[in-house]
Amino acid sequence: MSFRISSMEEYREVYRKSVEQPEAFWAEIAGSFLWKKKWDRVLDWNFKEPDIRWFSGGTLNITENCLDRHLETRADQPAIIWEPNDPEEHHRVLTYRQLHQKVCLFANVLKNNGAKKGDRICIYMPMVPELAIAVLACARIGAVHSVVFGGFSAQSIADRIQDAQCELVITADGGFRGNKEVPLKNVIDDALVQCPSVRRVIVLTRNRTPVSMIKGRDVWWEDEIKKAETLGMLDCPAEEMDAEDMLFILYTSGSTGKPKGVVHTCGGYMVYTGYTFKTVFQYEPGDVHFCTADIGWITGHSYIVYGPLSQGATTLIFEGVPTWPDAGRFWDVVDKFKVNVLYTAPTAIRSLMQSGLEYVEGHDLSSLKVLGSVGEPINQEAWHWYHEHIGKKRCPVVDTWWQTETGGILISPIAGVTPAKPSYATLPLPGVQPVLVDEKGEEIEGNGVSGNLCIRFPWPGMLRTTYGDHERCRTNYFAAYDNLYFTGDGCLRDEDGYYRITGRVDDVINVSGHRIGTAEVENAINMHSDVIESAVVGFPHDIKGQGIYAFVISEQHLNDSDLTAKDIAMTVSRIIGPIARPDKIQFVPGLPKTRSGKIMRRILRKIAEGDLVNLGDTSTLLDPSVVDEIRNGRIA
Ligand code: PRX
Repeated sequence: MSFRISSMEEYREVYRKSVEQPEAFWAEIAGSFLWKKKWDRVLDWNFKEPDIRWFSGGTLNITENCLDRHLETRADQPAIIWEPNDPEEHHRVLTYRQLHQKVCLFANVLKNNGAKKGDRICIYMPMVPELAIAVLACARIGAVHSVVFGGFSAQSIADRIQDAQCELVITADGGFRGNKEVPLKNVIDDALVQCPSVRRVIVLTRNRTPVSMIKGRDVWWEDEIKKAETLGMLDCPAEEMDAEDMLFILYTSGSTGKPKGVVHTCGGYMVYTGYTFKTVFQYEPGDVHFCTADIGWITGHSYIVYGPLSQGATTLIFEGVPTWPDAGRFWDVVDKFKVNVLYTAPTAIRSLMQSGLEYVEGHDLSSLKVLGSVGEPINQEAWHWYHEHIGKKRCPVVDTWWQTETGGILISPIAGVTPAKPSYATLPLPGVQPVLVDEKGEEIEGNGVSGNLCIRFPWPGMLRTTYGDHERCRTNYFAAYDNLYFTGDGCLRDEDGYYRITGRVDDVINVSGHRIGTAEVENAINMHSDVIESAVVGFPHDIKGQGIYAFVISEQHLNDSDLTAKDIAMTVSRIIGPIARPDKIQFVPGLPKTRSGKIMRRILRKIAEGDLVNLGDTSTLLDPSVVDEIRNGRIA
């Protein structure tokens, strides 16, 4: 079946069908994938428990959809193009045939190292093709991957490994990020001190930094590949998976201290990412798709690896950063590989915009057909810059709204079809039923309204549970409002029925498109020996979207507040990772608390934003005078 929607009339027709007959709609789409056994039932669900099952009784392996089924038609087409961090190093191209061979071989390596269906495997790697190979090899044998972004600290990795009880870790000696080297294996070694479940670590050679290899535990990727080759273990049949078997876990921050392991399953996730990839970007065979996210985040899972590969696309993996060696790096890559679809984050756009047009000039960007944005609200200025200077006003911009939990894009323009409105994610994709509710959970109908964004009906890519704690999944997403999935986002629906996401309404900050829980940062700050208590809020940041503002009560800062602030920032880097490092740390004599001891974050948020006048009602505070002191000491 073709996923092409070529006009608004067609969109409205498809959308109507998808709401009136969701099962027939999704069955038709699922039918375009390769199943080992067809499903018995399209959908069983209730949002109470929640219990959501798509394509029950069906069996498949997602890697057969991403690899094997393309061998007849496009074995020699590039599946992955890889551009290294350093432009002086050679790029690599893997055709579908080569990728298939490499995945099978590494899947056998995993088996040789004792991995089997259902085992959890932690992947902590740089953005090299072997990261995608490792992910697919896990899926090939039915092992559950848990990819941890290379910027997380040893403590964060240890928490995630323990939570999932991983038995294997796949990593590299180190990686490159701009002009820096990251010591991945060292970080893993630190993490594993706390992780007795891990019996094997497979280490890829990337930057040849010295590492310590522990006897009986650590092996080299390259040695293991040679062994498997010598044994002639070239082929690896794909494990037959139930549609609802777990495919992967991906940890994400919520409003409580501990990250949650969002669980996605094989069948629904495959169908949803494949469908949305094709539909939103209107991908055409032969196009080069460049998603700049890291595979450590959901965007990389869905729109670098699984979505594009299941549709036989050419996906570009870029190891580096947008601003090194200079701010023209993305445009070098677009020009060099004649990229057709560019999918990036507002943070990157804003930072490149600030660097100036001279970095864009001199690059041929005429291959671009579609531009995408993801991860955070895109401001009008960035939208226009992207549209004008990168897309030369020829390319539709798709502002795609979705979440780790949703698996794939839910609200977005369809490229070239949906009339855009800067800063609007526009309309729901077929199969997606958004609802706005007020504080009491009453649905807000009509247009020109705003409220909390919920989804009324299941879609195949939605999360099924949070690993090891189903109750947490229920309370986080399904308990706030009856029979609705609650996204945690605020949203407005304008006169045209267009949706605009206004940001999180819970205690989650979106820093450069990365979700960080305020409670997590507070826990990390409080680990510093001088800290008595802290409260963290977000504030508007020109480049990052939101920055982290920490109010800290400490005894020591009176001696040397600059040093203490640096120490605290360092503690957060160590405990969570550099992405959670506060931008501003203000030492305060106390925090604004109610008589029951609850911190009034609303007031702190206002102060952090610089709104020092409209602080609202402070009469319920235990000690209203503390507000004046905090206000006076605000860091601009
Ligand atoms: O607040 C929304 C914001 O990012 C959150 C999801 O973060 P994460 O699970 O890390 O996934 C990011 C990549 C899909 C959402 O709750 N967000 C994501 N996309 C947009 C967005 N906010 C506004 N506009 C978007 N296009």
